[in-house]
Amino acid sequence: PARLLDPTALGLRAEGPALDAELTGLDTEALERAFTQAHVAVVPGFCARDELGRTVLLGRGGSDFTALFIAERAGGHCVLVKDVDGLYERDPALPGPRPRRLTVATWDDSLRVAGKLVQPKTIRFAQQHRQSFTVGAVGAAHGTLIGPGPTRTEGSSVAEPLDVVLLGLGTVGRGVYERLAAHPGNFRIRHIVVRETARHVAAGVPAALLTTDAEAALASGCDLVIELLGGLEPAGSLIERELANGARVVTANKAVVATRWGALAGYAASGQLAFAAAAGGAVPVLETLQSLADAGSVRGVRAVINGTCNFILDELTRGIAYADALAEAQALGFAERDPTADVSGLDAEHKLRLCSLAAWGREPDQLERQGIDTVSAALVAQGQAPGRALKLVASLRHEDGRVVARIAPEVLPAEDFLAGARAEGNRAEITLADGNCVRLAGKGAGRWPTTAAVLGDVWTLSRAASVEAAAAAAAA
Ligand code: HSE
Repeated sequence: PARLLDPTALGLRAEGPALDAELTGLDTEALERAFTQAHVAVVPGFCARDELGRTVLLGRGGSDFTALFIAERAGGHCVLVKDVDGLYERDPALPGPRPRRLTVATWDDSLRVAGKLVQPKTIRFAQQHRQSFTVGAVGAAHGTLIGPGPTRTEGSSVAEPLDVVLLGLGTVGRGVYERLAAHPGNFRIRHIVVRETARHVAAGVPAALLTTDAEAALASGCDLVIELLGGLEPAGSLIERELANGARVVTANKAVVATRWGALAGYAASGQLAFAAAAGGAVPVLETLQSLADAGSVRGVRAVINGTCNFILDELTRGIAYADALAEAQALGFAERDPTADVSGLDAEHKLRLCSLAAWGREPDQLERQGIDTVSAALVAQGQAPGRALKLVASLRHEDGRVVARIAPEVLPAEDFLAGARAEGNRAEITLADGNCVRLAGKGAGRWPTTAAVLGDVWTLSRAASVEAAAAAAAA
């Protein structure tokens, strides 16, 4: 959950010329209050209010100033995300040999080389406050740390784009394709494997990228395979083989990861395989469980973890017929290719298995499953009562050394956190050993939420690849 805070909400004040003002104040309590309600605050840079409440601007590059100023007042570290991965001795866009990158730079050296990359006023502000900050780029292994120094440079960085094969171009595949194509400096799409090409050519995908032959596409070699075919085969065999061949793999395929865990666990542990998108869509369920597990503290999980089922149950309680609701969930791109996996609770079961592995490193010892395909009219009627909600609840309990899993439709009181999941929303409530709870909510299915989760993994793996390449270049 994110919160948008404008300069008024933040008490962000400035004085001086209306087009090139200096920031002077921030209501840090307002910022802290926002973080009790959301995990991310989005703040428009570049503007503030003067003492008379008028909007003033902070000058060219003034968003840097907003970011630095807020970090300084709130006691945080500021990372400025640019289109280059840090400061260079000279502008790397100019012709000639690639200049060396600065890994660390003093404020004075930054003022000399930053050019238009970082606003000079911002650097001087940081210097005055002895504030360190980082300039970096999305997907870059390192940035430049600007601060007291001393200034250090590294040899020319070797950030070659990764060669990618994309398996599948359905609801999520199309989203991932568009996001990769927007970063040609980071990703070179070699092949996209589809069932039939004509439809995708008509939708604007270059014909030269498309093939129906997965074997030939993968035989040409690649650094990263993104598997979005869904289903157990051929996805499972292809993933295993490519991992064995040394490729990095990102998948959203919960069925494959849950059923082939024995063969895949080692690759997941070493960071060669990533599958955050397999559960929760944009909601970081697996990542959160994993990090809580590292602290050894997860006792149980209750979750609404299948967007299709949640969407259908919402529709049923609004009086829509089951078949119509299912057809709509399919049309909106929430359901699996075979929606029986959704409505039978099998998709939730696969996700729950992954949650159990993330939380305790083991599969459930006992599992009961009931989907929504057999939901009775009587239960729907109970779900329609005021102050009630009908949800497919997936839960895990760790008790007496055993993990017990259960998936079943339940009528919940409206104040239950899970009752608030709407349409394709997912929610998870993780109980910790000390009795505290971690609650997560967001969109659990559909093109863009799932694309975001896949891209999160893609960037993580691409950063790991560029760290590896930089280390290899340094050793050579
Ligand atoms: N079919 C899945 C769902 C897609 O509806 O939740 C996201 O995993």
